Amino acid sequence: RMPDIFDERFGKFMKIAIDGPAGAGKSTISKGAAKRLGFVYIDTGAMYRAIGLAAVRRGIDTADAEGVKSILDDVDVAIRHNENGQLIFLNGEDVSTDIRLPEISVAASNVAVIPEVRLKLVELQRKLAADTDVIMDGRDIGTYVLPDAELKIYLTASVEERANRRCRELKEKGVETDFDAVKADIEYRDKNDSGREFAPLKPADDSVYMDNTDMTLEESIDKVCELAHSRRVGNKV
Ligand code: DC
Repeated sequence: RMPDIFDERFGKFMKIAIDGPAGAGKSTISKGAAKRLGFVYIDTGAMYRAIGLAAVRRGIDTADAEGVKSILDDVDVAIRHNENGQLIFLNGEDVSTDIRLPEISVAASNVAVIPEVRLKLVELQRKLAADTDVIMDGRDIGTYVLPDAELKIYLTASVEERANRRCRELKEKGVETDFDAVKADIEYRDKNDSGREFAPLKPADDSVYMDNTDMTLEESIDKVCELAHSRRVGNKV
């Protein structure tokens, strides 16, 4: 997009980092807030999912770091935006739907442990945030990808509530779900994402901690927008 008059006057774009565990509603809330604020929403989980999908398609065990690393040079991840939000491409193919399968969640969490995978994607993420106002969600955005973000939020909810939300979401997409299996997946990813050595999931020291177990989606979006206004950069937001 072309820089607008405010960009020229203040020369600065605003970055909002939203981190938290699986199923906390990061993407739905970030998308809603981005729409209201006029920011670009960037879903970094989709990028880890694309690499997880690439490995699964090639029959590579995603827990085998050497195997995953061996395909990295042949894996190109790109994103594009349309009126419905972000689309994700794997070697030129639109995989926006395929990456949402539950087994790809676990594959994504597994490949995300590998530093080489993270470094490849972090480069892309920082580039995407360089010349526009962004809300970026993930696990390490406030702590590692965009440490100078003007607003950092750590978004979480109880594991039961997160599993419930994920079940509802999958059901709406026509994917059959079993609550216990979904909950087990989430618990596995919580442990994997928080326990890894390189850029683990944890609240940034300067983040706002937001537990939305008892909040509606609208309330959560309101809260994010309110915080964005309080940290606004230049004349923005
Ligand atoms: O947000 P998500 O559920 O789509 O993310 C899928 C997995 O990708 C998640 O379990 C961990 C990993 N991930 C990560 O390690 N760092 C990010 N910034 C985003 C996702």
